[in-house]
Amino acid sequence: MALACTAAFAQDYPSGKPISIVVPFSAGGPTDRVARDLAEALRKPLGGVSVVIDNVPGAGSSIGAAKVARANPDGYTLLLNHIGMSTVPTLVRNLPFKVESDFEYLGIINDVPMTLIAKPSMQANTYAELTTWIAANKGKINLGNAGVGSASHLCGLLYQTAMKTEMTPVPYKGTAPAITDLIGGQIDLLCDQTTNTSPQIESKKVKAYAVTTPKRLTTPLLKDLPTLQEAGLKDFQVTIWHGLYAPKGTPPAVLKKLNDAVKVALKDPDFIKKQEGLGAVVATDGRIEPAGHKKFVADEIAKWSPIIKAAGVYAD
Ligand code: MLT
Repeated sequence: MALACTAAFAQDYPSGKPISIVVPFSAGGPTDRVARDLAEALRKPLGGVSVVIDNVPGAGSSIGAAKVARANPDGYTLLLNHIGMSTVPTLVRNLPFKVESDFEYLGIINDVPMTLIAKPSMQANTYAELTTWIAANKGKINLGNAGVGSASHLCGLLYQTAMKTEMTPVPYKGTAPAITDLIGGQIDLLCDQTTNTSPQIESKKVKAYAVTTPKRLTTPLLKDLPTLQEAGLKDFQVTIWHGLYAPKGTPPAVLKKLNDAVKVALKDPDFIKKQEGLGAVVATDGRIEPAGHKKFVADEIAKWSPIIKAAGVYAD
């Protein structure tokens, strides 16, 4: 009887109520941008159902992720998280969920480069001039981030280590509020994803100096920015990725419908155009399959864990 009910439920899914995607950072930031574009691209393959965004920021994405881990596993509450999914197991010592076993994996969505940007009043116009400014202002530099364990925080930590310069971290609940303060000159520097920085760079509201990928980007707006490796920081490389998750125990037939819809969304020309315009690369490889996604996150946990332990930062 229970089995028959589950089968009937899965057959009708989705119907009757909207699907909510939890974004564990503030509205208007890079994770939110990807989630909103994805929500739009998922609507059609999911039969026209409405897909809404629920911003639940805090603690390096772990508050929003915990909400989804505890949610009813009926396919109506999902999580869109970034690299935070692989950093919180090390950063949060009493994490109230297990990344490996409390979620179903629905596919990696994209890879996103980061940019090093500064307040508009920064006098440096090139990366070389910025390094001179950093050397002259040691001990006085404010570096924004989206909270401990966020992508901007990790990038900032790696950058300070590479530059052998300590900067004062200024945490926000996402890089949307951080970028507002950068534009206002309350903070000096920010390392953030191109999905958030591109519009600000284009409208010249912030100054951009370098990208964090090993190769220069091809996006017309960003193609002239040097890589940090080119600028002398050997081995410097940070790329952020986003994945979609459901609570553990979601019926397999519902998971299949969701993963199929993700694969359609990732081929949607509108979604691809929007993402590429913001410097992101939409996923096409084995990570769009649940097993590939799960293995990739496990590999990323293994990669970030020693870096975070060496930095000695914790979000709890
Ligand atoms: C981050 O630094 O982790 C992101 O920019 C988070 C966000 O605001 O979406």
